[in-house]
Amino acid sequence: MHKPIIAIDGPAGAGKSTVAKTVADRLGYLYIDTGAMYRAIAWKVSQADIPVSDTKSIVSLAMRTQVKLAIIDGEQRVFADEEDVTVQIRSREVTAAASPVSAIPGVRKRLVELQRSMTDQGGVVMEGRDIGTVVFPNAEVKVFLTASAQQRANRRVQQMKEMGIEADTEQIAAEMRDRDLRDSSRADAPLVQAPDAVLIDTDHLSIEQVVDKIIHIHDQSISEVGKK
Ligand code: DC
Repeated sequence: MHKPIIAIDGPAGAGKSTVAKTVADRLGYLYIDTGAMYRAIAWKVSQADIPVSDTKSIVSLAMRTQVKLAIIDGEQRVFADEEDVTVQIRSREVTAAASPVSAIPGVRKRLVELQRSMTDQGGVVMEGRDIGTVVFPNAEVKVFLTASAQQRANRRVQQMKEMGIEADTEQIAAEMRDRDLRDSSRADAPLVQAPDAVLIDTDHLSIEQVVDKIIHIHDQSISEVGKK
């Protein structure tokens, strides 16, 4: 049976990761967090002390860096040149650097190629900002998740707390606004909803309800293919 590609896009804190992971678990699909890949490059950039304005050096570093995602003991781990950077890439410093780094066309070109090479037969849930618009414009299932700015900031603070990082909600909300503005207004692959993506506002929905909606869209897409 053909397994679709499920593209989940949206701004930070809309609940993409939890939802995408749960959908992948329920369907037995591969889960790919593309934001973690941009973060891995941003981590390398900060380790090498390259200013974010030095796009030439950043692209050259991105071309040399091997970014890998692997499931170890049921958890997705992120590797940059064989080093496990799963925890480091969630720091505020890397979070702040990931946005300008991800706006560099050469970095995007490299990671989009890698993302496309990660699946050739579908059966994948990929989350990011440009999955339904650029990486897999032909994905059978496209979802754009949103939530209010307040809700998104609350969720991000909670996530950081779970990782042992203390944060102030107002400050996180301000940082998120800056990042979303940059991610949405960049020239190359800005954060926009694909015209054929289903918009889901997650403010008043539980994770289970959002997951159920996506699984329903997935099941419908499979039955439509079956009818053709
Ligand atoms: O989803 P995240 O917060 O882990 O993403 C980190 C940064 O990478 C964020 O600023 C947006 C950017 N990103 C992107 O430009 N394209 C993607 N497909 C995924 C993330």
